[in-house]
Amino acid sequence: DWTAANVVEELVEQVRSTVGEARVICGLSGGVDSSVAAALVQRAVGDQLTCVFVDHGLLRAGEAEQVEKDFVDATGVDLVVVDAQDRFLSALAGVSDPEEKRKIIGREFIRVFEQAARDIVGAHSGADDHPVEFLVQGTLYPDVVESGGGTGTANIKSHHNVGGLPDDLQFKLVEPLRLLFKDEVRQVGLELGVPEGIVWRQPFPGPGLGIRIVGAVDRERLDILRAADAIAREELTLAGLDRDIWQCPVVLLADVRSVGVQGDGRTYGHPVVLRPVASEDAMTADWARVPYEVLAKISTRITNEVREINRVVLDVTSKPPGTIEWE
Ligand code: XMP
Repeated sequence: DWTAANVVEELVEQVRSTVGEARVICGLSGGVDSSVAAALVQRAVGDQLTCVFVDHGLLRAGEAEQVEKDFVDATGVDLVVVDAQDRFLSALAGVSDPEEKRKIIGREFIRVFEQAARDIVGAHSGADDHPVEFLVQGTLYPDVVESGGGTGTANIKSHHNVGGLPDDLQFKLVEPLRLLFKDEVRQVGLELGVPEGIVWRQPFPGPGLGIRIVGAVDRERLDILRAADAIAREELTLAGLDRDIWQCPVVLLADVRSVGVQGDGRTYGHPVVLRPVASEDAMTADWARVPYEVLAKISTRITNEVREINRVVLDVTSKPPGTIEWE
């Protein structure tokens, strides 16, 4: 029967027999899935594992620091941080099609992992060293299904770590969580001793803020969205709602402008959308009934503190028909 301990034991065994003596890298985002995948592989093959955190410039405020503080301190895992902002932002320049963005981001992740793998082998080059053969990803069952890779026929979005992979991939993939749902992954994480602060973190997509800007992605737009997102997260946390809502994407409608008034002056700024949802597994979702006072506070603060934003709107669509993210 299903217990987290049984699942851990079984998956550790599988990872060991797949990986053997090879070196392994794991793309670590700081989120639940990649952290639990990394902890599992570390349990299985110890210091054959190196984690790679990619700063693609599409992160939220404070994220890079948090990974180092929370995960590395708790697990002692070997971590390499790669600053790949220029590479991702130039690959994305001028692209507004959602699937194209996702494919570009998926491809650039792999290129960064390939380079990191070469660097890691270079750094370890002893007589008995092994090449990096495997890439660990925290892919979950819903990612597989919605990318069209499962038993169903759905092809809704190319999750960056599934449908977004390049054809000439030079790694074998290790995806130990591929058959699990998020709540199961959380239990497995607790069993492995992953800190609660990570286990209960809300989902954040690998392509990051890149798929929360409707329109083309650039540094200026990212800065605007990052500021608005930080305010929304801060207020939801202050209101004690983190465990009640599954996640709350903040989406910048970068190509839309509307007229506003602030002080005595006319503004012509952008809207952001708040998308708070309640869900069990992200396959379906309902819009979350966040109290009006909390919404009011978020709206006031964002329009006061982020100069380019003059309107905050609330998304009251369930999934289906909407997806959780806008792209
Ligand atoms: P959607 O928008 O498809 O999102 O309803 C379902 C859940 O998946 C997250 N999401 C992703 N996570 N890589 C990820 O790691 C991705 O490419 C990706 N796309 C969406 C989304 O935040 C939600 O929790």
